[in-house]
Amino acid sequence: MARIAAPDLRGARKGDLDTPDAIAALVQQFYAKVLRHPGLRPFFNPAHLSRQMPVIEAYWERMLLGGARYRRNMVNAHREIHRRRRISSADFDSWLVSFVDTVDQCFAGPRAERAKFLARAIIGNLRRILPPDSPQTA
Ligand code: HEM
Repeated sequence: MARIAAPDLRGARKGDLDTPDAIAALVQQFYAKVLRHPGLRPFFNPAHLSRQMPVIEAYWERMLLGGARYRRNMVNAHREIHRRRRISSADFDSWLVSFVDTVDQCFAGPRAERAKFLARAIIGNLRRILPPDSPQTA
């Protein structure tokens, strides 16, 4: 099985999420945690995910640093994921808790705060767009 090689940043002095390298480290660390999570792990194909990491890093670069490399539609990507395997309210909660924990364990600063704020807002949008506890009609 392919593994996500996550750098262990927990002992290091916390920096902010203000460079592409820091964002890459967050993404590696977060998805390593996701793949250990019993509720979230079934959504992911680890081999595919490891190939998608640059795409997810580009997304967070766009959100936090204004990068222009991510040009896909993440909502549509998650519509398709939700169609294959329904994302429950508990799954949304688990994703957010894991994300906030990862940021807090490894990073501190204004962009780290912004990342958590954005994650909460985006989870809120996804919950509305992909109602977790009712059949999807679209
Ligand atoms: C419970 C909630 C969520 C689940 C179960 C979930 C699951 C997934 C899965 C299975 C993929 C595909 C990975 C692959 O290609 O191998 C994916 C892609 C992605 N996820 Fe999520 N996700 C969730 C929430 C979020 C949130 C809140 C964000 C952003 C704040 C996010 C950002 C992304 C991005 C940017 C991609 C790449 C999309 C693309 O292909 O363009 N996800 N997610």
